Amino acid sequence: MDDAFDNFVDQLQSQIDEETRRDFGEKVYQRWKNPCYLQIINDPHGYAKQTGTCGDSIEIYLKFENGVVYEAGFQTDGCGPSLVCGSYAAQMAMGKNAAELMDISGESILEELGGLPDENEHCAYLAAAALQSALEDYVSRRDKV
Ligand code: FES
Repeated sequence: MDDAFDNFVDQLQSQIDEETRRDFGEKVYQRWKNPCYLQIINDPHGYAKQTGTCGDSIEIYLKFENGVVYEAGFQTDGCGPSLVCGSYAAQMAMGKNAAELMDISGESILEELGGLPDENEHCAYLAAAALQSALEDYVSRRDKV
């Protein structure tokens, strides 16, 4: 009974993996399985949470040293693609200064991960919006000091 159930679960997982690979491509699939930068950063210098019209949220955490991002993290309560897009947004923020961060957009995230199906493109725009808000938070705090 247990073996049959385990086999069923394994088969189901393989099927889901195969469909995800087919629909989203290898690069997105790999990040989906290993979403690096999925972390909460304590005392971030820049933080924002954005909620999309789909109802999902992405949070971005940034820490700066000498004006560049040295630590980045994200959280999401959303779909698989939001996990991938948040992860890429955090990765793309690493090592960048404020001016360079402004260039990270939904388009550049989509380009970096090799595109998404049309119905999931908004997930990249949500990740970019969260990143840009976290940057604004950083700049407004920095300018107050
Ligand atoms: Fe809402 Fe992807 S469906 S962020």
